[in-house]
Amino acid sequence: MMAMYWAFVILTLAVVGHQSQADSRTPRKPRQTESDQPNIIMILADDMGYGDIASYGHPTQEYGPVDVMAENGLRFTQAYSSDSVCSPSRAALLTGRLPVRLGVWGETHRVFLPWLTTGLPRSETTIAEALKMQNYTTGMVGKWHLGINQNTKTDGFHLPTNHGFDFVGHIIPFGGSYSCDNTGRYDNTPDPTKCFLYYRDEIVQQPYYQENLTTLFVNDTVDFIRRNKDGPFFYYFAMMHPHAPLFSSAQFKGSSARGAYGDNINELSWAVGTIIKELEELEIAEDTLVVFMSDHGPHLEYCLDAGDPGIFRADKTPEEFADVCLPAGYPSGHYFDCNKKSVSEECVTEHDPPLIFDLHADPTESWPLDPSKFDALIESVQNLISDHEAGLIRAPPLMDTENRDMIPCCNETTNCYCNYP
Ligand SMILES: *[C@@H]1O[C@H](CO)[C@@H](O)[C@H](O)[C@H]1NC(C)=O
Ligand SMILES: *[C@@H]1O[C@H](CO)[C@@H](O)[C@H](O)[C@H]1NC(C)=O
Ligand SMILES: *[C@@H]1O[C@H](CO)[C@@H](O)[C@H](O)[C@H]1NC(C)=O
Ligand SMILES: *[C@@H]1O[C@H](CO)[C@@H](O)[C@H](O)[C@H]1NC(C)=O
Repeated sequence: MMAMYWAFVILTLAVVGHQSQADSRTPRKPRQTESDQPNIIMILADDMGYGDIASYGHPTQEYGPVDVMAENGLRFTQAYSSDSVCSPSRAALLTGRLPVRLGVWGETHRVFLPWLTTGLPRSETTIAEALKMQNYTTGMVGKWHLGINQNTKTDGFHLPTNHGFDFVGHIIPFGGSYSCDNTGRYDNTPDPTKCFLYYRDEIVQQPYYQENLTTLFVNDTVDFIRRNKDGPFFYYFAMMHPHAPLFSSAQFKGSSARGAYGDNINELSWAVGTIIKELEELEIAEDTLVVFMSDHGPHLEYCLDAGDPGIFRADKTPEEFADVCLPAGYPSGHYFDCNKKSVSEECVTEHDPPLIFDLHADPTESWPLDPSKFDALIESVQNLISDHEAGLIRAPPLMDTENRDMIPCCNETTNCYCNYP
C-alpha cells in the first residue's frame, strides 16, 4: 500500500474480560448490564513509541504490568493514529472524526496553545457525550490539550466539563514540555504561562510541580472507579508519561536500566497495573474493557529523552518542520513521504507513481515493490482517495486565532504563581 505522508502510530493493547485468578472467591452476581454495557477505560500514553515496552521488543526496558496486560489481552499491532501531534490526534480519538473535518489544524500552529481562543468545537460529539446518552457516567484525568478559554482568561469554555465529562479530576489543559520542568535542569523553567494544573475548571497550581502528577491522576482514577463500580462508566486517563521532560515520582526515579525514559515507562506501567488491580479487587475486571494506546509516535529529535519506534520508520512529526512536512491545507491526490533524515525542503518527497509495500512481509517499509505490476491496485487506491476527497469538507483552521489575554492566570497579584493543595 502507499506510504503514509506522516509517520506515526503506535501501540494499542486491550484487556477484554481480564481473567480473575481468584477461583476460590464467591462468584459475583452478574450486573444487569453486563453483556451490553461494559465499563470502558481508555488510557493514553503521550509520545510513546511502538518499541518502548518489553513485550513489544525493547531490549532494556523492565517487564511490567503493561506487559502483563498485553500478554493477557488483545494486541492491536496495526492501528493508526489520525495525526502525528497531540491536539489533532486527541481530537480524532475523542470524536472519531478526521482532524481536518473538525478544524483541528492550522497554518501557523498544529496544537492548541494557551494563548489561542479556540479548542475542540463544542458542537462535535465526543465519545463521552455519546456514552452519556447511553447512561454511562463519564470521567477523565490528565492531559487535555484541546483548548482552554475563549473570551476571558477564566471562562474555561473549551475544558472537558463542556465536552461530556461528568467527573473531571486533576488535568493539565495545555500539555507537557521542557518549559514545565521544575527540577532546575533548565533556565527559566517552569514557565507559569504554560504550566497549569487544574482540578475540574479551576487552577490549583501554577506552574505545576510535575513529580507527583501521576500519583495524583491515579488517585483520582481509583476514587472514580470505586464511586462508580456499579457502572456503566467511561473513563479517559490521558497520561503525561513518557513525554519529555521525563519527570517521575521519587518511587520510580532510577528504577530503570534504561534511564529517565525507562523510569517513565515503569511509572506508566505501574499506573496501568494499579488500575487493573483495582478493577480486580472490586470484581469488575470482567465487565471492563481497558484500552491502552499511545497518541502517536515518539519525538526522536529529543534523542535519549525520546521513545523508540521499534521496527517502524520515523516518528512524531516535529512541529518546527510542520510547514515543510505537511504542506499547507493538506493537499492530496499526490503521494508524499515525510523523510526526516533530511531537515529542509527535501524533507518531503513526492512519489509518482506511489511507493508500494507489502506490509505483511515488510512492515518496516524498506522494500518498495515494482509499481508497474500494480496498476489495478494503484487505480483502486486512487479511486478511494478521489471518493474521500469528494466527500471531505475541510473545516476552517482553528489554530491561528491568538489572544494573549486568554492565558490562564490564577492570581494577578502573585504574577500567576499559586499553590492551593
Ligand atoms: C437509560 O436510562 C433511561 C432512564 O432510566 C432508560 O429509559 C433507558 O432505556 C436507558 N438507556 C440504556 C441504553 O440503557
Ligand atoms: C511528592 O510526594 C512526596 C511523597 O508523598 C512528598 O514528600 C513531596 O513533597 C511531594 N512533592 C510535591 C512537589 O508535592
Ligand atoms: C494518593 O493517595 C494516597 C493514599 O490515599 C496518599 O497517601 C497520597 O499522598 C496521594 N498522593 C497524591 C499525590 O495525592
Ligand atoms: C492572590 O494573592 C494574594 C497575595 O498572596 C492574596 O492576598 C489573594 O487572596 C489572592 N487572591 C485570590 C483570588 O486567591
